[in-house]
Amino acid sequence: MFFLLFESLLFLQFFAVGAIKIPESYWTLKPNVLVVDVDTDKDVNMVEVPLICGEAYEGENVTWTKNQGEGLEAKGNKITVTIEGWKGGNYSCFNTEGSYLNHSLVLAQWTFRKIIKNTPDKGYIHCSTNNYGGSFQCSWTWGANRDGRVAVVAHIKATRSHSESNINCHLDSSGQSITCLDQDYCPYAEEVERINLTIYFRSNFVVETYSTKFYIMDIVKPDMVVINGINQTSVELGYPQSWSTPASYFPLTFQVKEIRCRKRNKCDCSNPNSQEEIVKSHQLPVTKGMTVCVRARDEFCNSSWSEWSQHKCNTRKNRRQRNRKNKLNKIF
Ligand SMILES: *[C@@H]1O[C@H](CO)[C@@H](O)[C@H](O)[C@H]1NC(C)=O
Ligand SMILES: *[C@@H]1O[C@H](CO)[C@@H](O)[C@H](O)[C@H]1NC(C)=O
Ligand SMILES: *[C@@H]1O[C@H](CO)[C@@H](O)[C@H](O)[C@H]1NC(C)=O
Ligand SMILES: *[C@@H]1O[C@H](CO)[C@@H](O)[C@H](O)[C@H]1NC(C)=O
Ligand SMILES: *[C@@H]1O[C@H](CO)[C@@H](O)[C@H](O)[C@H]1NC(C)=O
Ligand SMILES: *[C@@H]1O[C@H](CO)[C@@H](O)[C@H](O)[C@H]1NC(C)=O
Repeated sequence: MFFLLFESLLFLQFFAVGAIKIPESYWTLKPNVLVVDVDTDKDVNMVEVPLICGEAYEGENVTWTKNQGEGLEAKGNKITVTIEGWKGGNYSCFNTEGSYLNHSLVLAQWTFRKIIKNTPDKGYIHCSTNNYGGSFQCSWTWGANRDGRVAVVAHIKATRSHSESNINCHLDSSGQSITCLDQDYCPYAEEVERINLTIYFRSNFVVETYSTKFYIMDIVKPDMVVINGINQTSVELGYPQSWSTPASYFPLTFQVKEIRCRKRNKCDCSNPNSQEEIVKSHQLPVTKGMTVCVRARDEFCNSSWSEWSQHKCNTRKNRRQRNRKNKLNKIF
């Protein structure tokens, strides 16, 4: 008796989550795009998805094709297609004259992570901003085994979880990053909720979903510090042009070190070969012949340091200038 019950439970479960799937296993990503969730642990995955050509075509003799090619047997405004495994498709519908009416792109979402690469430190999606203006940029690295297939951004969603939000994103021209602007962001108010960003990547008829959550204040990374030489033994530090103003409200803290570089093009400030020192003053004495490295970050947050800026008082140029002066003196 017990075994019988056990077996019939297994049997029921098979039907509940097995080959023929329940309607909840597909959803609308955006107009004309449906997504079927694929359970990658299962051998067979079949999901029935109802498609509608358009309310206006009810009762008409509508025909369908899959992937701009093969015609489907099913006819009419409303049909049901079976999505097997991750073999989604692009279903188009036509009227009696054969004119195109509409289409539904059916994508299979799996849990593999193939389209985008995970990078140490940065994860899958890396977001940053160079000020408190409410805009930010997110980038990624395409996965290596794309088999020459083109992957694209299918959709972007950005919200703050529990409030109405007004965050607009667009794909950058490189196709490698997105830029977003939170219209409601106020740098003077406490940022209560994180931004929840989700990017849907499509390769053929497969979609992979990547999400990340962050506060603007945590992804701030100033652009490079401006270093102006005053004379051969002192420099002046300037805020990056892109940084938020007024500087009194958005102060930066500077980190400074001096390194010795034999060749200018081999000068690398990120080498951990000398001690950094925090400075408050914007004017600094520098040692003749040494290269000064400076970077900055928000004084009040533990966010990222800018990239290093470097400066070497150019003694050679000065000598050349002097030489030219001497020559001029000789001429006159
Ligand atoms: C085409 O299909 C989409 C998605 O199913 C639907 O929202 C839209 O109204 C349809 N267009 C027409 C002209 O019926
Ligand atoms: C629908 O179109 C098909 C193919 O053109 C045709 O054979 C069929 O008779 C049509 N049915 C109706 C109800 O118009
Ligand atoms: C799907 O088919 C429609 C209509 O032919 C076309 O405009 C669209 O570009 C196709 N989309 C994809 C991803 O193939
Ligand atoms: C973030 O957004 C995605 C897509 O809308 C959603 O699936 C996910 O549950 C959200 N995460 C949180 C923690 O709100
Ligand atoms: C260089 O400029 C600093 C700051 O203006 C000044 O204190 C210093 O005396 C100057 N040194 C030389 C050699 O002119
Ligand atoms: C800032 O970061 C350091 C090192 O990562 C950590 O020890 C410190 O507690 C952080 N401070 C704040 C205010 O988060």
